[in-house]
Amino acid sequence: MTDTTAGRFTGRTIIVTGAGSGIGRATATRIANEGGRVIGTDVVAERLDALRTELDGLDLETVVGDVTAPETIAAILAAAGDRVDGLANVAGIMDAFLPPSEVDDATWDRVFSVNVTGPMRLTRAVLPLMIAAGRGVVVNVASEAALRASAAGAAYTASKHAIAGFTKSVAFFHGPQGIRANAVAPGAVATNIEAPMRSEYAAGRVGPIMQTTIPPVAQPEQLAAAITWLLSDDSANVNGAVLPSDGGWSVV
Ligand SMILES: NC(=O)c1ccc[n+]([C@@H]2O[C@H](COP(=O)([O-])OP(=O)(O)OC[C@H]3O[C@@H](n4cnc5c(N)ncnc54)[C@H](O)[C@@H]3O)[C@@H](O)[C@H]2O)c1
Repeated sequence: MTDTTAGRFTGRTIIVTGAGSGIGRATATRIANEGGRVIGTDVVAERLDALRTELDGLDLETVVGDVTAPETIAAILAAAGDRVDGLANVAGIMDAFLPPSEVDDATWDRVFSVNVTGPMRLTRAVLPLMIAAGRGVVVNVASEAALRASAAGAAYTASKHAIAGFTKSVAFFHGPQGIRANAVAPGAVATNIEAPMRSEYAAGRVGPIMQTTIPPVAQPEQLAAAITWLLSDDSANVNGAVLPSDGGWSVV
């Protein structure tokens, strides 16, 4: 479906979170196949075991842990060593489509923790290495929910707007130091992400809009194509962008 570019990441070390499934897995696979050294991390150990088996012979190191935990960040940095060329913050969770009137604190806190705080901490941890090297690329996975309100509940929508804002902040402050930061905004993608609908009110409000606007579901490899482009030198002049990869959903 998508062509690989031989050697595009040769000599580069790229951290990929959420590497055990879906978009993160497709991204890690593509980078490894294009010659990169991948530090793949996920909270589910068996998924990383399966990835290691599949990518046998390629340059993949895995770190099991919750990306919100400081000890996981430390383990990822230790695995990477003294060189990090790129960071793809892919791990994320959805909410239960709870609207602002129904969202509970636990859902809000957990969604923000995984979708915003974890990526911020990991970005903050790799930036000194990148700044010292005078180059580095961060790619965050936002969502259609970073662009519109009808794609998810309040917590997820606010978290994806937040990660888009954080992306721009990195580009603004650290662009002059050689750092690029961009985000992709996927529409619907066929992955293992859980998206329960726990609000009757939201079902009535969101359902009819989604049915008439959502393009066909994409494959994770299509998102990996956009993410790896943003990680590569081909996107050298792109900084602070939020790139929809959604089959055109965002223009409806
Ligand atoms: N699938 C979609 O339709 C869709 C649409 C828009 C945006 N996204 C975004 O894409 C990203 C990847 O999602 P996906 O669809 O590939 O989902 P997925 O569930 O298939 O993969 C996500 C991976 O992240 C891991 N993960 C979750 N929480 C973690 C944590 N706290 N620490 C470490 N790892 C953790 C999971 O174990 C899983 O392997 C997410 O940020 C999601 O919000 C997905």
